[in-house]
Amino acid sequence: MRGRFITLEGSEGSGKSTNLEYIYQRLKTEGLEVVLTREPGGTPLAEAIRELLLDKRNHTMVSDTELLLMFAARAQHLHELIIPSLNQGKWVLCDRFTDATYAYQGAGRGICHDRIAQLERWVQGELRPDLTFFLDLPVAQGLARAGERAELDRFEREEIDFFERVRQGYLACADAEPARYRVVDASPALPDVQAQLDRIIDDYLQDRGSANG
Ligand code: TMP
Repeated sequence: MRGRFITLEGSEGSGKSTNLEYIYQRLKTEGLEVVLTREPGGTPLAEAIRELLLDKRNHTMVSDTELLLMFAARAQHLHELIIPSLNQGKWVLCDRFTDATYAYQGAGRGICHDRIAQLERWVQGELRPDLTFFLDLPVAQGLARAGERAELDRFEREEIDFFERVRQGYLACADAEPARYRVVDASPALPDVQAQLDRIIDDYLQDRGSANG
């Protein structure tokens, strides 16, 4: 049986890495075989594309280059890792996926939705995540947390307005697909955030149990 494809999205400073690890451990505790991966990246070639995308020296990169590199990395990642893993019955937990493209390149950079949707159909065919978590918090709060980091990459150097558009982009994705999306309030302390994650995972596993049974 095909595995499930779960993605985690989050604004800057939303605690994505810590909560990704938390979800990963939770799923493994349930006895599931889980592949943990990320975008852009996840395979050696896609990680090389990630380097290009995040390198702050590439400040001349235009939005179309950025968009196409995201999908180039995604094509490689899908064919080399995600699709084979799902076909083997493994679950794939991916740190960001195409919703990030709608949020960052779409809402953030202003590339039209249809153009992204075209690339999505080309590169992914029918494949979409089964479940997506979005860790949401006010932009100012997220940037205050993220600003504590030593060095900022090409995206992290953007202005507050950009991140506001990105956040609204994610919320629009969540509105458009309520069956797939779970919006998590990432503003409280970690135990509260993880209690929300637990409830979502419990519900999801229960539904899956009844769907399979
Ligand atoms: P990360 O910091 O979550 O690892 O992600 C790297 C950056 O890449 C992050 O700032 C968001 C950005 N990104 C996009 O702009 N579009 C995409 O499609 C993906 C997957 C990530």
